[in-house]
Amino acid sequence: MASPLRSILAVAGLGLLLSSPLAGAGNLLPEIPKAKARVSATQGCVEPTEVMRHNHMKFLLHHRKEALREGVRTKKYSLMECINCHVPDPDSPQAVHYGNPKHFCSSCHTYAAVRIDCFECHRDTPLPSSRKSTSASGVTAPVTLASGVDAHALKKASSPAEEN
Ligand code: HEC
Ligand code: HEC
Ligand code: HEC
Repeated sequence: MASPLRSILAVAGLGLLLSSPLAGAGNLLPEIPKAKARVSATQGCVEPTEVMRHNHMKFLLHHRKEALREGVRTKKYSLMECINCHVPDPDSPQAVHYGNPKHFCSSCHTYAAVRIDCFECHRDTPLPSSRKSTSASGVTAPVTLASGVDAHALKKASSPAEEN
């Protein structure tokens, strides 16, 4: 693992902020919570960490398109899988929601003022352990919407997060 400071310097867009006069005070840097597991002994994330730092949004948006329009259902870039591995269980003492800087996805986004609407519909925590068997199938389940609604298409006109 690179040192936390180096990881942070490598984050796209954050480097600029570090050239501000406030940089240097270490506690102003985002603290990125550690993942709960690794993909394999040799690789932490679903792609090399450095690649994920810069490209996670592209993988998510591309997979979303494939899953919804072309019916390609794989776990690799499923949003639920990201949450399962990166966010504490909702019934654990560390439970945390998006918007709190201690939530994995918020840690950088709060710092870099990135806005996403994904968690208006998708779970920002894993399923509670009582319902774990549901997710073991690997079928991702954004929860609050009636099924069959093409929510992304509806959102398209207004959402800034679009695949390129
Ligand atoms: C099986 C566990 C696992 C899954 C699933 C997973 N990750 Fe990761 N991810 C890791 C590990 C391990 C790291 C390395 C940093 C660490 O140890 O926390 C990492 C690193 C990252 C980083 C860089 C963080 C940093 O410290 O700079 C991002 C961004 C990221 N993951 C996003 C995602 C997204 C988005 C998904 C879903 C498409 C995902 N991850 C799925 C385990 C996982
Ligand atoms: C290592 C820091 C970091 C982590 C951790 C992180 N992000 Fe990001 N994310 C960013 C940055 C920085 C941007 C803006 C990149 C840009 O504008 O080029 C971004 C942008 C995005 C975007 C695109 C937003 C848009 O409108 O363009 C999405 C979607 C996104 N992140 C989803 C997630 C999700 C989901 C997680 C948690 C699983 C997550 N990110 C975790 C740093 C991070
Ligand atoms: C208005 C509600 C809504 C919003 C906002 C939303 N989604 Fe979704 N998303 C859905 C629904 C509904 C599905 C289809 C669920 C299914 O069929 O499994 C879905 C499916 C997906 C899938 C494919 C299933 C998977 O996880 O493998 C991905 C990836 C995804 N969304 C990512 C995102 C990302 C990233 C954002 C934010 C930039 C986002 N969504 C915002 C409702 C939403």
